Amino acid sequence: MNQRGPLIAGLVLIAVGLVGLVGLYPLLMPQGTGGMMMGTDGMMGRGGMKRMMQDMMGNMLPLGINPAALPQPHSEGARLMQHYCTQCHGLPGPGLHTAAEWPAVVARMAARERMMSDQDMMGIQAPSAKELATLLAYLQKHAQVPLDKATARGLDTPAGRAFSATCSQCHALPDPVQHTAADWPAVVLRMRRNMVAMGKPVPSQSTLDAIGTYLQKYAKQPGKGGS
Ligand code: HEC
Ligand code: HEC
Repeated sequence: MNQRGPLIAGLVLIAVGLVGLVGLYPLLMPQGTGGMMMGTDGMMGRGGMKRMMQDMMGNMLPLGINPAALPQPHSEGARLMQHYCTQCHGLPGPGLHTAAEWPAVVARMAARERMMSDQDMMGIQAPSAKELATLLAYLQKHAQVPLDKATARGLDTPAGRAFSATCSQCHALPDPVQHTAADWPAVVLRMRRNMVAMGKPVPSQSTLDAIGTYLQKYAKQPGKGGS
């Protein structure tokens, strides 16, 4: 087993931003397990890093989605997402953040990618300025549309309150107008799966039904603009 394992893993933790956890590393990774993360080339493999991050900071990482579930899965933006945004964690869905929020998140990720690619760490690649612009435009185009609480209707009803409490736990409270009434049930079903996957409380079926009815009531009219 390579003695440099813990050292390299420590460097990677610093690079990805786990500085505060590095001190815990020997406790969490008892002697011997470090070797399992070492590739044949003596470096911890990318898969090992992803697994370690998932173990140590899973609640900070985006829930990975299937590439086929990306909006416009064959666009350049979707391709760049799969190439650059799965290097350290699962593929993030654009609906996790609003168009206003994405620039700061992407800048934080790009800074890590640049730093690690400059240091030649784990084979991490950083997007060019042009690719970064394409990535950001893609994320913003398909971003979460936040509900403007000032103009929202029906929030102060039992269903509206259940909707507010349930649907703002992982991203901004969604504007019902971003989907048609026909499209909402499938989205709510997927969100229920997201709740299970991310260990959030799952409301009762009757509460989910009430939320679905609320969303459909204020949904986009078919044939009108929007995404
Ligand atoms: C070099 C490793 C690395 C790469 C590459 C990377 N990330 Fe991250 N990502 C992290 C780490 C570490 C965290 C947890 C700490 C944090 O949020 O900064 C994180 C967390 C996140 C989160 C959850 C936190 C939040 O603010 O919502 C999102 C979303 C995210 N990344 C999106 C992306 C996107 C989009 C890309 C591609 C442009 C990307 N990541 C590429 C390391 C990376
Ligand atoms: C446990 C966390 C979590 C909760 C709670 C949650 N979501 Fe999400 N939501 C996500 C994640 C992760 C994504 C991005 C991946 C995806 O699209 O599945 C997302 C994306 C979305 C999107 C954008 C994608 C699309 O299909 O339009 C909408 C709209 C949305 N959520 C609506 C809701 C509604 C409505 C609720 C309440 C019923 C809700 N979410 C509750 C995690 C959550």
